Amino acid sequence: MRLKQLKRHLFFCGSEHCNGQQVEEVMDAFKEQLVEHSIYKEVKLNKTSCLGLCGNGPFTLVYPEGIWYYNLTPEDVPRIVEEHFIDGEPVEELIMLKLENE
Ligand code: FES
Repeated sequence: MRLKQLKRHLFFCGSEHCNGQQVEEVMDAFKEQLVEHSIYKEVKLNKTSCLGLCGNGPFTLVYPEGIWYYNLTPEDVPRIVEEHFIDGEPVEELIMLKLENE
């Protein structure tokens, strides 16, 4: 992965408090969708320890927007990739929190 091509960075809490077992399934669904839409070089995924919003997982924190998607299932992932990453419209009903960027 070339960092110059990077447009988004996704963080996933892998703790048991955030349904850590299911995080792998959600991450795999993201990987599949990113390949399917040929944007896998633009999006980096990392599993982390606690991110400070415990118990709402699987979730992903998406930068640079600072958007937290929560209680995710693999079935939610195609919408996030297509509507948010490709069309530029975050999926409002899956958002728990948006960080203030101003
Ligand atoms: S344990 Fe997942 S955010 Fe804290």
